[in-house]
Amino acid sequence: MTCFSGITPSGGATLGNYLGAISRWARDGRPGDLYFVSDLHGMTGAYHPQRLRARTRELLATLLAAGIEPEQLFVQSDLLPQLGALTWILECSCSFGEAARMTQFKEKSSAKGLEATPVRVGLFTYPVLMAADILLQGADEVPVGEDQAQHVELARTLARRFNGTFGDAFVVPRAVTPPAAARVRDLADPSRKMDKSARDSVGVLYVMDPPDLLRRKIRRAVTDSLGRLEYRPVEQPGLANLLEILAACTGKPVREVGAGFGSYGDLKEAVAEAVVDELRPVRERTTELLAESAELDRIRARGAELATARGAHRLATAQRLAGVG
Ligand code: TYM
Repeated sequence: MTCFSGITPSGGATLGNYLGAISRWARDGRPGDLYFVSDLHGMTGAYHPQRLRARTRELLATLLAAGIEPEQLFVQSDLLPQLGALTWILECSCSFGEAARMTQFKEKSSAKGLEATPVRVGLFTYPVLMAADILLQGADEVPVGEDQAQHVELARTLARRFNGTFGDAFVVPRAVTPPAAARVRDLADPSRKMDKSARDSVGVLYVMDPPDLLRRKIRRAVTDSLGRLEYRPVEQPGLANLLEILAACTGKPVREVGAGFGSYGDLKEAVAEAVVDELRPVRERTTELLAESAELDRIRARGAELATARGAHRLATAQRLAGVG
């Protein structure tokens, strides 16, 4: 059993990434599991090369700081030759309709507005690159938040199709979604997920935000005027989000965690302290690791070596079965 997942350096890691993904990877990880910084996925819109490089480094440091073992980590672009090859093979068995159905593509391509920023082909095909990430490493379990489950489903479809058409090359993966905090919402607009690449960051809590900034953002979180301290996600989405965050940080059930608070203000103070306590050690360790530049380079190089060796035979098999190379 191999667990495999990634995070894109399209911004700093958020509390959503941390609760929905990183902390679980660190806690539930077994030897042989693999996690990576998907920097190639950070190129699907307009981006700044130096910033992409710096964020890739920061995320690698954050994954280490969260407690993931160095030999379980790599940076995606270090496998560019293999991934490029496998992506092409998979693209040639993925239909246009399948790629066009991806909710994230539909959201991102329409939100950007065609006239402002042209939608790149890379944004359209990146779920296939994601399938290549997963299938190259032979992953069977892919822990992701709800927002990525559809992409893992595509990887599953493509693996089955390739195996059925050409012969067995790939393990068929499945998505595993966490029970609590599967989707942390933007504090300023709870109809949206908390997204590291959001334009406006008032509702986004970043792992590297200092404690005072976290507290300020949480105090300003949008709630409602009903004054009912209950967990009702449909009627009170802002409040429900705060309760879910508190539940995820304290390990208590979401329906019980609000008991005992007199007001929304009191609840927000408790959420702020829980979030600050949760993120402080990760932020401090990330800062230390970024200062240990040579050590970070060494970990990255070793991770690349291990991941490349691990995928080589699968790519060779896929090429042979597909009649190329
Ligand atoms: P990314 O960088 O958007 O997100 C990384 C992980 O964080 C989860 N996540 C959230 N969980 C809860 N609440 C939120 N608000 C929230 N926002 C993000 C995501 O579900 C994800 O688990 N394309 C992927 C990275 C990737 C990948 C892969 C993952 C590339 N190749 C192969 C798995 C397997 C991405 O951009 O994730």
